Amino acid sequence: MSECKYKRVMLKLSGEAMAGKNGFGIDFEVAKRIATEIKELVDMGVQVGAVIGAGNIWRGREGGGMDRATADYMGMLATCINALALQNSLEDLGIETRVQSAIEMKEIAEPYIRRRAIRHLEKGRVVIFAAGSGNPYFTTDTAAALRAAEIEAECILLAKKVDGVYDKDPNKFDDAVKFDTLDYKQVIELGLTVMDSTAITLCMDNDIPIIVFALDEPGNIRKAATGEEYGTIIDNYSKEAAARDC
Ligand code: GTP
Repeated sequence: MSECKYKRVMLKLSGEAMAGKNGFGIDFEVAKRIATEIKELVDMGVQVGAVIGAGNIWRGREGGGMDRATADYMGMLATCINALALQNSLEDLGIETRVQSAIEMKEIAEPYIRRRAIRHLEKGRVVIFAAGSGNPYFTTDTAAALRAAEIEAECILLAKKVDGVYDKDPNKFDDAVKFDTLDYKQVIELGLTVMDSTAITLCMDNDIPIIVFALDEPGNIRKAATGEEYGTIIDNYSKEAAARDC
């Protein structure tokens, strides 16, 4: 089995990933498969933090006439449901897991405490960061970037439905071209919607590479973390190239 070059990673899963083909709710067969893949990383000695979205339960942006903040808070609560489901699936496989919530609900989950999260990771526990960043107007992508920076994760493993970043939607356009590498500024300048701009700039400012891959095939989380197979890497390669050219 390939070695993982990362000691600590942040896995970002979309809520839809938990829904499987149903597109809504939680498919526990799918949750089990994701948990099995996370176990592969844990068994390799990789420390794993995870952030899950909520699109399988609630989409804040589609909250009809609701005010944005309330719709976003509902989304944050939905991420807690997904976090508990994933925790359950991981624990079924014997993986110690802690859920930490950005919104205090201490009967259900630990509150988010950065130093405590790091201690859990050091002890080999998977830490699932629930309730986003605890603030409306921010996405779970931004929460993943923020927590990745806080716990000093070496990369974000960004699980998607498609196998990388394309210049246009590959589901709609046959001539869509995939990028193998991108730097953060290109993502923003080209208006690529892989992550929102707040999340991208947070990664840029903190030098956190983003590895984009498709979750569809079993084993892809490990393959992305080991560099065996992935779609696109977003990092500061231009900056590195510039430094080399000096
Ligand atoms: P160590 O002390 O480092 O071994 O960590 P630990 O998480 O095992 O210790 P602790 O005794 O704090 O936690 C035991 C269990 O209680 C774990 O499953 C925690 O997730 C859970 N727990 C701890 N604090 C809270 C809390 O504020 N709310 C909820 N709901 N659970 C908590």
